[in-house]
Amino acid sequence: MKTEDYLESFESFVGSENVLTNEAAEKHLTDWTGRYSGQALCVVKPASTKEVSQIVEYCNENQIPIIPQGGNTGLVHGSVPGETKEGSLPIVLSTLRLKELNPVNKLDRSVIVGAGVTIKDLANHVASFGFAYGVDLAARDQATIGGTVATDAGGIRVVHYGTTKAQVLGVEAVLADGQVIDSLGSTTKDGAGYDLPAWLIGSEGTLAIITKVRVKVKSPLPSAHTYFVGLNKFSECSNLIAKCFLEEKRVLAAEAIDKESFDLVCNFLNLAKPLSDQRVVMLLETDSALDLSEFPHVESHNETERLEFWARREQLGEAVGSLGLIHKADVGIPPENLDQFIEQFHQKLRALPQVKQTLVYGHIAESNLHLEIIGPDKNDLEAENITYRLVADFGGTVASEHGVGRAKCEFLHLVRSQNYLETIKLLKKTLDPKNIFNPGAVIALD
Ligand code: FAD
Ligand code: MLT
Ligand code: ZN
Repeated sequence: MKTEDYLESFESFVGSENVLTNEAAEKHLTDWTGRYSGQALCVVKPASTKEVSQIVEYCNENQIPIIPQGGNTGLVHGSVPGETKEGSLPIVLSTLRLKELNPVNKLDRSVIVGAGVTIKDLANHVASFGFAYGVDLAARDQATIGGTVATDAGGIRVVHYGTTKAQVLGVEAVLADGQVIDSLGSTTKDGAGYDLPAWLIGSEGTLAIITKVRVKVKSPLPSAHTYFVGLNKFSECSNLIAKCFLEEKRVLAAEAIDKESFDLVCNFLNLAKPLSDQRVVMLLETDSALDLSEFPHVESHNETERLEFWARREQLGEAVGSLGLIHKADVGIPPENLDQFIEQFHQKLRALPQVKQTLVYGHIAESNLHLEIIGPDKNDLEAENITYRLVADFGGTVASEHGVGRAKCEFLHLVRSQNYLETIKLLKKTLDPKNIFNPGAVIALD
């Protein structure tokens, strides 16, 4: 069949204005980092589960790969196409028109929303009912509920509310043959057989298209005390957080930033550099005042200051991005190994001639580090190779909150057993026998 025939079919499902090609498709084909991009037949934008089902059934019959895409803020090459062979271009299926927002059910504290609703719109929606949504992240204006479920996103409130997995009560999804399954309508505690849709949390678009999600809504955050605390090492952040827990303080956020990253972001934003002689700065938010007299620290005194504290944390990614192409590694390290790991990371990476700078910051309550490597060319994986081997040596994970995508599938074996990987492949083969959903993401192509 010719490309025109395919396009005509997609247009018949969603209308010609919702099938994008050429320039109109471009922003869907390169990711936020600018490092990853690919080619597609077109971008298709369905507005209902029925339309998603028609598209998927058609693609399955015609062996057309599908790259599911929400806000395209993913950082691991999962949201845009990878390398493709001549004649097998995928489509990008954008969920941005799946915008359904239902009223909050106050009795069971839940809400059902379309996969394309952004985190910001979801937060505003549940706030209008007096509730909060538990996942928040700097990409909130673009990142969608479908994308965050597909990656099990974490973000800045995990220490208080948990990751996305902890918010999800049910999912509706379209399987590879176009069939729809869901677990949206049941009671909040439901053990009736395998929870199939729950398997889709963290599946990164490789098993099904998530079309709707039922999430918990939570009590809003208590008003916060917001501090920058100066410390010497990342492990001291973990100790201070443990102290807060032991003293029954509620920790609302805990973000650690190394000195170089902190200086960089303050300069980038043209903001003052508090605690400039400290090696690590932790942004710590608690529900009640802390006695921090043994540490250098500053506290925000009003909302403007609080937002400026947060800007220094939330715009780190952009500040680092201003240095050029970044090799990003989102990893988890057992807390007892943090300092040694970080020391060796800098040492080994800075010994490489192509590496100009290495930076570390992250969601320290979960020992989730964002390692930023500046210098290597786009396709030079030597730095990643060394980094992920080191992560494995220290008993960590190569994918803490951003997922695996195409960027990390070749490193999964470092932290997952052969049996584990074979089981993942079996599940993929069973649910998606023709490998149409996001081929090459999570599981490497043969
Ligand atoms: P996309 O980027 O479009 O897609 C991500 C993956 O999900 C892809 O594999 C895609 O195929 C799949 N997918 C998307 N929608 C669906 C669907 N409906 N059904 C099935 N599969 C789907 N992540 C964190 O965890 N914590 C952070 O603190 C954080 N901060 C960030 C800050 C910035 C500035 C940026 C740019 C990114 C950040 N991220 C963070 C990464 C990113 O925002 C998350 O991975 C997010 O979950 C992606 O959502 P999205 O809608 O943009 O999904
Ligand atoms: C963050 O915590 O800032 C993010 O996960 C994004 C990033 O790593 O750039
Ligand atoms: Zn993060």
